[in-house]
Parts: sequence; C-alpha cells; structure tokens
Amino acid sequence: MKQMVIEGNNILTGDIHIGGAKNSAVALIPASILANGTSTIKNVPNISDRDALIDILKILNCDVDLEESTLKIDTTNLKNTLIDEEHSKKLRASYYFMGALLGREKYVEIYIPGGCNIGARPIDIHIDGFKALGATVTTEGNKYILKADKLIGTDIYLRFQSVGATINLMFASVLAEGKTIIHNAAKEAEIENIADYLISMGANITGAGTDEITIVGVNKLHGGEITVLPDRIEAGTYIILGALVGKNLCIKSIIPKHLEALTSKLKDMASDITINEDNIVISKVDNLKPTNIKTLVYPGFPTDIGQPMSVLLTQANGTSLFEETIWENRMGHVPSLNKMGANITVKGMSSMIIGPSKLHGDEVVATDLRGGAALVLAGLTATGTTVINDVEHILRGYENIEEKLAQVGAKIEIKEI
Ligand code: EPZ
Repeated sequence: MKQMVIEGNNILTGDIHIGGAKNSAVALIPASILANGTSTIKNVPNISDRDALIDILKILNCDVDLEESTLKIDTTNLKNTLIDEEHSKKLRASYYFMGALLGREKYVEIYIPGGCNIGARPIDIHIDGFKALGATVTTEGNKYILKADKLIGTDIYLRFQSVGATINLMFASVLAEGKTIIHNAAKEAEIENIADYLISMGANITGAGTDEITIVGVNKLHGGEITVLPDRIEAGTYIILGALVGKNLCIKSIIPKHLEALTSKLKDMASDITINEDNIVISKVDNLKPTNIKTLVYPGFPTDIGQPMSVLLTQANGTSLFEETIWENRMGHVPSLNKMGANITVKGMSSMIIGPSKLHGDEVVATDLRGGAALVLAGLTATGTTVINDVEHILRGYENIEEKLAQVGAKIEIKEI
C-alpha cells in the first residue's frame, strides 16, 4: 500500500507540464487492436491505467514497445483469448476491448470492468448499441460473451450522451458493413482524438466532437498514429491548486479552450488568472467569491473536476452550492475534507460548502481517483502534515504527481507502507 505525506501551506511557483489525457489514452490503447500491423501512440501518460491496458494487450498476444511516452503496438499475431477477471477489474477502460475485439474478431469474452467506486456504472447503453449492430450478448456470471456473424451499420440513438458507449460503438462499427450513425453522441474532446486515430488507420468517420457521428464501415484498417491530447482534468486540478496556493503557477502544454467551463467559474470567483495560447498562469487571492456549480456533460462543468473544485470552494468567502449530475457517489472525499476543517454538508448528489475554512493536516483516505486528487490539494493548502492513505487511486490517473508538485515547491512524498 502507498501513502502520501504532505507538509502543507507553502506557496507554489514555477511550471507544471501537463501530460496526455488519461481518458483518451485508455481508449486509444485498446483501439490499436482494430488495425492490422503496428500503430504508434505518442504522449501516453505514465499512469497505472496505461500499464493495466498494456497487460491486457499482452494477454491478446500483441507486441508492445514503450519508450518514454511513445507506445508502439503490433497486432500481427493477435490471439483472441478470454480477458480474465483480474485484468478487466483493474480499470473501467478494459470495456473498450469489447467494442474493439467485436469490431475486429466478431467475438469477445471478457469479465465485467472495474474502476472507481463513484456510482453504479451500468453498461446497458454499450450493450444495446452492440446488439443494434447485430451482435448477440450473453452473460455467464460476471463474464460477457459478445458475438456476431457480421456487424451491419445502423442508426443508434444513445439515451444518454455516454462517453464510453460513444467510443465503444465507434470501435464496433468502423469495420461493420455499411453506415452507422450515432445520435446523441458524447462530444468530449477525447472523442475527436480517438476518431482521429481511427481515421489515421483508414476508418471513415465524420462528426466526432458533435452529437451526431457517422461511420461508414471499411474492410480493413492498417497501422495508425496519434498524439494523445493534453489532459484537461489533470490541467484543471493543477489550475485549481494555483488558485489555492499558487504564485504565478504556470500550467503548461494545454488547450485552454477545453477548460473554459472551469476558467469561466474561476473568473466569476475573482481569481487572478491569465489565459494564454497554450498555458494558464494563476495565483492565490485572498477574497475569492463563492459560486454555484452544476456538473454537466461536455462542454459543461466536468464531473471529473468537481471534487478538486470543492476544495477551492472551502476557501471562498461565503456559501457555495455544488450539484453533481453524472455520478451518484462523488462525495467520498467530503468526510476527509471535513476532518481537515472544511464545512461541507452533503445531501444526496449535492453539497453546501461554507467558507472560508482554515484547513489543517490530518490522516485521511483516498476513496477514488479525483476524490484523492482533492485531498492532495487540501493537504497542500492545509497547515501541518497531511497523510493520505490508498494513494494507488490517485496514481491511476495523475502521472509523476510527486515530481511535478515537488518541482514547484511542494513538500510531498509517496511512501510504500
Ligand atoms: C468517462 O466514464 C470517464 N472515464 C469518467 O472519468 C468521466 O467521469 C465520465 O466519462 C463522464 O465524463 C473514462 O473515460 C475511462 P459515461 P464513462 O458512460 O465513459 C451512465 C475519471 O475520474 N451510463 O459518460 O464510464 C453512467 O452511469 C473518470 O477520470 C449508463 O447508465 O462515463 C453515468 O451516470 C471517472 N449506462 C453517465 O451515464 C451506460 O451504458 C455517464 O457515463 C453508460 C453510462
């Protein structure tokens, strides 16, 4: 087990470089098996979800070569075997092998995916879409078996703009016969990145990034190449850190347009923020205004930045209301924040945050990835020592977090216990 120890209340200054987006990389890696031959993914973040997906590629007999942040995947000798429970349970994104293997092999056996404990996380929208394309889906205990003689393009209407279902259905339809239109598709920036990768392999996809994506099936895909876009959630987390304890903290290598929902809120709160072409500079101010936040699908306020943002709301001058609309269980960090001195009352998927609170260090536990990131921000803001247990959750999605924060002046250490 890993534990993080933070000595808080230091002003942080300097540059933080943002890596490739976790939620794009975790789909790009499985997408590689749709191609015959070798594909290259650049700017892959150094996170444990990456390693878990590479292990699954190896189970499928793919050759994988990782050099720094460049991943080369050769699928020439792919063997379509069962993806066992131990490996599929390690992360949510293992379910992208459903769409990718169904697309290429028309047969998949895989166990139910894992991932953060932030809600029920059903996959009915994915399954309904696979069935609409002509697959049969059966379950044996926790195992799914998907098969099809052939997949035939069709119109698919998603009852919710699900990120995962949109991506999985792109995977299942790129090699199908005829035209598929995904209506009410998710519009997250990552989806365009993933479509661009498939297009580089020879796929025919238009409309990614809008709510209607059209895919015309092709017979075969060849090796492709893509650069993972910058991680807007990692960037957002560190931008909020700058508002908490920064002095000209510069968050670099980002696409500010992807962060507009956050930056417009920070401006409403009267933060000291400067938005440049590919970086954002932010400093702490004393009189932050409270605000109300409701998470929404892209381009609304991202659910994945909600937990880190709640830490900033504890420092605003007055009462803020926070409403989560995507996941039913994204308040796991609140008991820890309250233990550290915050004044947050949770009611269902909403919370009321009364600030400003003087946060003090304590021993707390990361219950999930973004909740854990929120505790890191709280620890860096608090006086005294904060000890965060179960740091593995955080390492799933934040690359080199200890080094990146130490470089701007944070006193932070990850220990094996
Ligand atoms: C992706 O999850 C991200 N994960 C999540 O980030 C992110 O919170 C989420 O999109 C929303 O932006 C990855 O990309 C690996 P959804 P995903 O399908 O695809 C319901 C993080 O912290 N739903 O858009 O699983 C679902 O229960 C993680 O980095 C169904 O009901 O999210 C939820 O309420 C956490 N049936 C809503 O839709 C389905 O078949 C959104 O889910 C699918 C989803």
